[in-house]
Amino acid sequence: MSDVVLQIDGRAVNAKKGMTLLEAARSAAISIPTLCYHEKLEPYGGCRLCTVEAEARGSTKLVAACLYPAEQGLMVRTRSKKVDKIRKLILELLLAHAPLSEELRRLAGEYGADRNRFEKEPSFCILCGLCERYCAEVKGKNAVGLINSGARREICFIPEIASKDCTGCKECFPLCPTSYLQAAFVLVDGLMFHQ
Ligand code: SF4
Ligand code: FES
Repeated sequence: MSDVVLQIDGRAVNAKKGMTLLEAARSAAISIPTLCYHEKLEPYGGCRLCTVEAEARGSTKLVAACLYPAEQGLMVRTRSKKVDKIRKLILELLLAHAPLSEELRRLAGEYGADRNRFEKEPSFCILCGLCERYCAEVKGKNAVGLINSGARREICFIPEIASKDCTGCKECFPLCPTSYLQAAFVLVDGLMFHQ
């Protein structure tokens, strides 16, 4: 693996070939907010909160830092008017679904997002997919699944697997940015496992 040197927020950062911009930034203690990223999971690119500006050969584009590769000579800006505007909008949209999420509220404060900009449609899950992917990729269990499509998409516990494997695990619980997962488990636990 050879090294590449790129600039992040004006600093020269050494990265290994194959690293993403997020990994390169974090290796240099430069923080980029994420909601659907986890270092043990395959990149997903769902939330776009990690959007940054990447400039190469005079052209600048907005990219998801958790997916975009660290390239030689790239100039990356993790904060700019454009980046902050996108993050603010994403947070406002997500807050309509999960208005009580402490993590979203904290980020809203940082990016000046209006928690009441959009009409509330509380589904409480923001479909980051962390729970489902962690269960499948790290635990190899598939006890949590995403069902339906479009606006009706939601996570659910698969009772036959969850009743055997979840009680002693719950490793996905602290990953959930909204606490919906815990509530969903309490519900399914009460309904399915103790009949
Ligand atoms: S339940 Fe939580 S962790 Fe799972 S997809 Fe929804 S917000 Fe993400
Ligand atoms: S953290 Fe990169 S898209 Fe969600």
